[in-house]
Amino acid sequence: MDGNGRWARERGWPRLKGHEQGAVNVEPVCEACIAEGVEYLTLYAFSTENWKRPAHEVSGLMLLLERFLADKVAMMNRNGVRLRTIGRTADLPGPVLKRLERAIADTAHNGRLTLTLALNYGGRDEIVDAIRAIAREVAEGRIMPDGITSETISGHLYTANMPDPDLLIRTSGEMRLSNFLPWQLTYTELHVTQVLWPDFGPAELREAIADFGTRDRRFGGAVENPITAATA
Ligand code: FPP
Repeated sequence: MDGNGRWARERGWPRLKGHEQGAVNVEPVCEACIAEGVEYLTLYAFSTENWKRPAHEVSGLMLLLERFLADKVAMMNRNGVRLRTIGRTADLPGPVLKRLERAIADTAHNGRLTLTLALNYGGRDEIVDAIRAIAREVAEGRIMPDGITSETISGHLYTANMPDPDLLIRTSGEMRLSNFLPWQLTYTELHVTQVLWPDFGPAELREAIADFGTRDRRFGGAVENPITAATA
């Protein structure tokens, strides 16, 4: 959800105004995903590094999140959206956590779109947490070291039971992953757009999906070169 600050700056507004518009934008993007048949949407809403921002920006973001969770459960139930989170959510402020738990429970029965909010999320921390969990199981004798496979690791990440993303959309033109889903994005197609998140709407989503449709996904394999026959 990158570019909120720049969107606000372009208008001479404080950064929080951009985040406010960024939060408003979640509903139309969810509805557009449903219309396009997308089953999983994961939004990078707050990273482990975002705590370094000025205190008023962090508290403003937490307030926006709390308000979103209070106001949007009806929208989620109307559209069949199931909410879940990835990240060290236990470290979020108490009121946000309480709203989060309630929204997750109140939308658990929905099945059209899984909306995952990455909150206090860091990709390296996710891998650390997975390794710690696996190490505990090894110490208890429930897994043998040689029995650890790529599936074991996937199954201990916050995203266990979710498919790896097919498409990563990076708004605002940045060309980096920023500690987002490093394990899961291994074979994901990347779509970078200059559009800032508050301006990213259904048309931009359709454009990203159309771009995805042009990709030749080989997952490390190869396609035989076509043999061109020349006749003389
Ligand atoms: C990145 O833009 C955006 C964020 C760090 C926060 C996104 C969070 C929200 C919109 C809050 C509410 C969340 C939900 C899911 C309702 P930036 O500030 O890095 O933008 P810039 O690079 O242009 O400065």
